Amino acid sequence: MIIDIVTIFPEFFNDFLDNSIIKKAIICNQVDIRLNQLRDYSHNKHKKIDDTPYGGGVGMLMAFPPFYDCIEKIKTPESKIIMLSPQGKLFNQKKAIELSKEKHLILLCGHYEGIDARVEELIDEEISIGDYVLTGGEIPAMIITDAVTRLIPDVIHANSAEEDSLQKGWLKFPQYTKPEKYKGYQVPEVLKSGNHQLIEKYRFEESIKQTVLKRPDLINQIELTEKEEKFLRNINFSVKK
Ligand SMILES: C[S@@+](CC[C@H](N)C(=O)[O-])C[C@H]1O[C@@H](n2cnc3c(N)ncnc32)[C@H](O)[C@@H]1O
Repeated sequence: MIIDIVTIFPEFFNDFLDNSIIKKAIICNQVDIRLNQLRDYSHNKHKKIDDTPYGGGVGMLMAFPPFYDCIEKIKTPESKIIMLSPQGKLFNQKKAIELSKEKHLILLCGHYEGIDARVEELIDEEISIGDYVLTGGEIPAMIITDAVTRLIPDVIHANSAEEDSLQKGWLKFPQYTKPEKYKGYQVPEVLKSGNHQLIEKYRFEESIKQTVLKRPDLINQIELTEKEEKFLRNINFSVKK
């Protein structure tokens, strides 16, 4: 997969791209992340890319021509063009899974008061990472790049992604590591039993309990198996149909 990020702050991404799983995925050619300096497409000799809004008002707006020219240069028939914006549809794991199947993502980072509205005619989607306003689209671009890259086949262990919270709708079961006892805090006995059937049962039930306790709102979006539905009934959770 190729991810093109269009930004006036490509240097923000240096540490992000130079670490951990993202770095490994780049080295192994599982993803190619390209940083495009929007100022290189400025029509101004001082590389200015912003201007005052028509109709008046506070702040500066990012101009249309640099975005138009940059998109024209980097897009292909396989590109999915996404504008990061607090007005977009909320990003979630389902969207990350969907985007991880694309061949080419172009992420447009806004700044200041945002981007000239004509850019909306060039994009496929507008995505928000939450109902709050950030100063720029760089952190949202990193969040989407991170969430999508780890889902590309073989970037992380396949089972690990499959068992992650939200991947199948549920939150993940609680996990523990050594030491088994510390200052009176203990690891649940069943996890040390070596009995795989019991461990499987514990994980199944705990995953559902975690979701009921922490994010009951997620449950109505899950297509429940008979076994899941039965367990929810046993713990007196009523499912809205
Ligand atoms: C200060 S914001 C502009 C907000 C704009 N004036 C509005 O009211 O909708 C500047 C840029 O940050 C990015 N941004 C801010 N909040 C975001 C969010 N929740 N999700 C995605 N991008 C965001 C967008 O790229 C946006 O163009």
